[in-house]
Amino acid sequence: MKRTLGTCYYPEQWPTEIWADDARRMVAAGLTWVRIGEFSWSKLEPTPDDLQWDWLDHAIETLGSAGLKVVLGTPTATPPRWMLHRHPDMLAHDQDGQPRKFGSRRHYCFSHSGYREECARIATLMAQRYGQNPYVAAWQTDNEYGCHDTTISYSDAARSAFQGWLAHRYGTIKALNAAWGNTFWSMDYASFGDVDLPNLTVTEPNPAHSLAFRRFSSDQVVSFNRLQVDAIKAHSHAPIAHNYMGRITDFDHFAVGNDLEIASWDSYPLGFLEDRVGASAQRQRDFARQGDPDFQALHHDLYRAVGRGRWWVMEQQPGPVNWAPHNPVPLAGMVRLWTWEAFAHGAEAVCYFRWRQAPVAQEQMHAGLLRPDSVDARVMDEVKQVNREIEDAPDVVETQSPVAIIFDYDADFAWAVQPHGADLSYFGLVLHIYRGLRALGLSIDILPATTRDFTGYGLVLAPGLMTMADDLKSALGSNNAEVIYGPRSGARGDDMNIPTPLPPQIPNLDVTVTEVESLRPDITVPLAQGGTVTSYREVLDGTADVILRTMTGDPVVMRNGRQTYMGGWLDETALATLLKETCAMASIETLALPDGIRIRDTATERFWFNYTAQSVTCHGITLAPAGVARTKR
Ligand code: GAL
Repeated sequence: MKRTLGTCYYPEQWPTEIWADDARRMVAAGLTWVRIGEFSWSKLEPTPDDLQWDWLDHAIETLGSAGLKVVLGTPTATPPRWMLHRHPDMLAHDQDGQPRKFGSRRHYCFSHSGYREECARIATLMAQRYGQNPYVAAWQTDNEYGCHDTTISYSDAARSAFQGWLAHRYGTIKALNAAWGNTFWSMDYASFGDVDLPNLTVTEPNPAHSLAFRRFSSDQVVSFNRLQVDAIKAHSHAPIAHNYMGRITDFDHFAVGNDLEIASWDSYPLGFLEDRVGASAQRQRDFARQGDPDFQALHHDLYRAVGRGRWWVMEQQPGPVNWAPHNPVPLAGMVRLWTWEAFAHGAEAVCYFRWRQAPVAQEQMHAGLLRPDSVDARVMDEVKQVNREIEDAPDVVETQSPVAIIFDYDADFAWAVQPHGADLSYFGLVLHIYRGLRALGLSIDILPATTRDFTGYGLVLAPGLMTMADDLKSALGSNNAEVIYGPRSGARGDDMNIPTPLPPQIPNLDVTVTEVESLRPDITVPLAQGGTVTSYREVLDGTADVILRTMTGDPVVMRNGRQTYMGGWLDETALATLLKETCAMASIETLALPDGIRIRDTATERFWFNYTAQSVTCHGITLAPAGVARTKR
């Protein structure tokens, strides 16, 4: 498949007279896609029920007839001001119970039934009008669910929906009390109507209560999205996407993705570096203009799984953004590198956010492909270069990776409810392991925890899966791959309870976690084989072989046959030792890559990416700063 490029455009923000020239320049730059509409509700419906379609008809016609394919977004992330007159109680409430007010975006609670009806109404009207429009080639629902911390709301609407959700899940209040262990601290409830939201409690709420509320909040996103999908599908056959984000894990993206044809995500490598990656200050400095070498790739692989193979980058950073702690200009060549990295991981399309930098409002300081004065920004040359390269180079042919990591949003909820130590997170653990694998030159697939067929993988990792279904354990144990579990895999039952017999209870792996501890950053536990355990450690018992042990002889990693349990957060050195050894057992070839050099294998090629600002030669390949190379496999 030929990979394609696109951009995000806001015709409603610019004079009609310049649309045709913008469209012409998009085509000249080699762009195929233009995403529009997702923030345009006040222009579409300036006053209630007074629909103004003419401008959007004209915009779609102008863009489409110039040769572009339109991705049409539903405008539900930005309800207009009048919506609050209709539904004064539709706002989400923060943890302190305060409403999150009008004046920016995403000011709605996923549980508000009146607002849900408004969203279904506007999505239906749009789909009726444009569902058969030949230029509308795809849809986007809403914009970035969960952005600005909006998945969880402590509103009245959320409370009553949560009570209904609990009644459905537990059937009787007695069952809920038993499952949560509410007798502890006399927290028993007499009815579902007694159960409040888990905020503003004197000290921490029951973790079972918090986990249930997170699961409920996730389900609300899924059903909110489904309403729009149903509305669109009633009138259109075009594929529907949503644009997910980097390190937003508080709703189950696999569950949302199951209702959509395409997963897409918004990739801001420099924006993410300082506060989402969790990198040291030194690393943040080293990669300030390039972004973290593994963070984007992990999301590419994750969203390939969420999209069941079909995924895009819907928004690609093209220059400095406005919203990170610091907002540097990317190193020359990085926008090209980011684009090719997405293609190498299977992206069908990469769209740059945004077409022209806006001279007004919140994102004045956010770069676009054009400057505010409509002159091409410097990055335009890189975009044109990528376009020429797509034309000249062979297609990217995807293939199954040798290694898989199981990723489970529910595990992230459980870790968030009970991290057990400052800075411990499930996502952080997965990123750490992913990084360790990538440093060995490996290509990785991400799989949901519902996977039962692991055919073709040599190594499957199931770290941190707090709750593990029995049939997942048996599917992992009975396939031909090496499997690495832990830490915290199988550590909890369905309602956040410690199971007995004690975890992890993996068939044919005689390991029991008898005690756990979290560690200050200045305390580490050295291992006899080199490296350390940091931040989280489990005390292991059992007859399985000891693969890594502490200096004082305590087992840290244990193995029976092809199943290995990792009883702690291994540092980079210890993790590399374990991964190299396990890959060798699975006959998976590893290679040592210098820091900042990363590779990705497709069926026919090896892509090489230089995330550093220096020229680097390794394994016979010389890469310029921000360089990309392709070699035959
Ligand atoms: C994304 C969002 C866009 C825009 C962009 C700026 O999170 O979807 O609408 O705000 O960030 O970087």
